[in-house]
Amino acid sequence: MIDHRIIEEIKFRNNIEDVISSYVTLKRAGSNMNGLCPFHSEKTPSFTVFTSSQNFYCFGCGAGGDVITFIMRAENLEYPDAVEFLAKRVGIEIPRDNEPSSRGPSRSRIIDMNRDAARFFHTQLYSEAGRAGLDYLKNSRQLSDSVIKRFGLGFAPDSFGAITDHLRSKGYTEEEMLSGFMCGKSKKNGKLYDYFRGRVMFPIIDVAGNVIAFGGRVMDDSVPKYLNSSDTPAFKKSRNLFALNYAKNNAEDHIILCEGYMDVIALHAAGFSSAVATLGTAITSEQARIISKYTKKVIISYDSDAAGQRAADKAIKLLSEAGCEVKVLKMNGAKDPDEYIKKFGAEKFKDLLSGSRGRFDFKVDSVLAVHDITLPDEKIKASDELCKIAAEAYSEAEREVYIGRIAEVLSLPRDSIRADVRRQVSRRTRERKKNETRNAYLSGTGYGDRVNPDFVKNVHAARAEETVLGLLLSFEEHRKFFADGGFELSEDDLATELGKRIFTVLKEGIDATGAFDLSIFGDRFSVEEMGRITKMRVSREQLTVNDRSVLLDAVRVLKSESAAKSGSDDVSYDDLLSLINKKKKEN
Ligand code: CTP
Ligand code: MN
Repeated sequence: MIDHRIIEEIKFRNNIEDVISSYVTLKRAGSNMNGLCPFHSEKTPSFTVFTSSQNFYCFGCGAGGDVITFIMRAENLEYPDAVEFLAKRVGIEIPRDNEPSSRGPSRSRIIDMNRDAARFFHTQLYSEAGRAGLDYLKNSRQLSDSVIKRFGLGFAPDSFGAITDHLRSKGYTEEEMLSGFMCGKSKKNGKLYDYFRGRVMFPIIDVAGNVIAFGGRVMDDSVPKYLNSSDTPAFKKSRNLFALNYAKNNAEDHIILCEGYMDVIALHAAGFSSAVATLGTAITSEQARIISKYTKKVIISYDSDAAGQRAADKAIKLLSEAGCEVKVLKMNGAKDPDEYIKKFGAEKFKDLLSGSRGRFDFKVDSVLAVHDITLPDEKIKASDELCKIAAEAYSEAEREVYIGRIAEVLSLPRDSIRADVRRQVSRRTRERKKNETRNAYLSGTGYGDRVNPDFVKNVHAARAEETVLGLLLSFEEHRKFFADGGFELSEDDLATELGKRIFTVLKEGIDATGAFDLSIFGDRFSVEEMGRITKMRVSREQLTVNDRSVLLDAVRVLKSESAAKSGSDDVSYDDLLSLINKKKKEN
């Protein structure tokens, strides 16, 4: 636990607008500021920073909290690490008690350990033990010493104890090595054994320059070809990209997205220094958003086989949703960029980049690859699929271009294609409306609420609860009134588990100081819950009537609902489901 006064000092010096400005372009809007939310994809700004309360809230996705919550989300950190991050930012030293913490190894310990391990692997590569590794990288893969050095490549000796022995000698504990994915523990004799053995090592480095994980490749055809660190306190696969630490500085024009580590390294070596790759998984929406922070144009350069093209399909979707213009490289005569450059050279690859297809042409190619359009049935299917894509276009002009292309490749009259596209457009509009109605209905009832699953059990009481908590969170006069015994309310009166927890902490805070700040919720609530707490506050502050009578009315509802509860039967989940289904049928 970090002393509360230190947290307050850290927050005071880290003005929320300054901190968030380095992640989001903020514009002043009245007394607040807003911008495009960094936590979900959007085209109009619903992300708001409240200057006076030093909170943020996104009306689109519900992310919200104080500056610490923001850093937890933006940097993917746990609470204490986010506090440390902010302390460092303003040069505050957090006094440490030397007690080992009970929550397991910290992110910073794992990062230190990874750095030591990366140094060890690199030294091994250039030692006698690493001869085979160096031979593989230099001769089989044609990498120069400077490229090997730039990417910090290394070699894990073919031994069960080399890494663990080394890290132990550097003072890392068994627990740290285990949770950092450096080794496993034998069930038979309880001994540690190295995970990475006889592999060439690719350190994964985040944008701040920390070694956060490793990938290790065998040097022959054995399996698995690659072994990657699984998620650790310092690493989340789905939120990082290989070589982004370099690519981010060369991303003004575009980023090249590849499948493999070796592709990225070959591209950088050939002068294409904006190449990145995912880490052994398909691209996630988080990765797409991270990429969109650094560039507006992405050229997908996946393997040329069917699997690579399918993966490209998904990447196109996620990257376009994140607001990027997406192009896809068309590669013939080589299976991946690494092989292409080796066979045909960097100049030819440059031509590929400038000739890369837009989203629609990529789709045309893949549809034509699976449908033989000399057969009538297949031609109809191909036409259907392409018309659907054309219907997704935002502008009439863009759609018209696509209609022309479809008519051309299928040799069908433009007018009939246009009619089909129109039909698809109205179908999409109908579906969107239906979804919106359904979502509005579901969110109105709280159904599908993962942050507060109890909400739906008694919506009436849960609404009153939000009112009470929102008013107490927002207004000092109401807190004073409560502290002075203006009304009585106990945990048991609250309607939901989340509400009870919020109330408990709120009460402690009010008792202690009277004044109060979101940071009293500190590390006792998840980032999602912090969003909900902020929402209670923000939505109250947007309403005009927030006086004592509103508060007392809501308190009354809570009390009578909790009194009635003992004997009565609440609306059950099942009842509600059948109600929703009934409504659905009626529509
Ligand atoms: N990958 C993985 N585990 C495997 C195979 C692949 O994690 N068993 C991931 C790696 O991140 C790899 C990427 O998927 O870089 C692409 O796989 P592949 O094309 O097979 O590897 P390359 O990087 O192209 O490696 P190489 O050229 O050495 O075969
Ligand atoms: Mn490959």
